[in-house]
Amino acid sequence: MERTLVLLKPDAVQRRLAGELISRFERKGLTIVGLKMLQASKDLAEKHYSVHAARPFYQSLISFLTSGPTVAIALEGREAVAAVRGLMGLTDGVKSPPGTIRGDYAISIQNNLVHGSDSVDNAKAEIELWFKPEELTSWNPTDSSWVAG
Ligand code: RTP
Ligand code: MG
Repeated sequence: MERTLVLLKPDAVQRRLAGELISRFERKGLTIVGLKMLQASKDLAEKHYSVHAARPFYQSLISFLTSGPTVAIALEGREAVAAVRGLMGLTDGVKSPPGTIRGDYAISIQNNLVHGSDSVDNAKAEIELWFKPEELTSWNPTDSSWVAG
């Protein structure tokens, strides 16, 4: 079992898509082990996207991520990192295929609704950045033999 971090970025919350997007991850068979809404501080946003600090879009990205509430979700499942990246699609909403979250709901590059960790190591670090240990719940869904068989 693997864990990954998903963020429903401020555009997803403002556009009232949070419930619909959470449903997509649930329906895939991923298990929610952590869920909360918060407005990210500048410090949190900068740490989260520190890998992009030298990129020209960095300041705009930080201002976007701190501009309103974000829903942070820790998900668990078989190859959860790859499963979430597949559901999200490509960074650019226009290039992202229909059927993916960004392909279905985004036309922007920056305002692309969701974040998903891109490796198991980054997922671990990002979950630790966004959640305290006591905010995560390990549990066994009753349908796990059907979902993960
Ligand atoms: P994420 O980290 O949020 O899951 O997205 P990603 O892997 O698909 O894309 P990444 O290259 O890591 O970029 C992080 C976020 O920065 C914004 N971005 N803006 N203006 C631009 O050219 C540009 N490029 C990226 C997007 O919000 C992207 O998700
Ligand atoms: Mg990324």
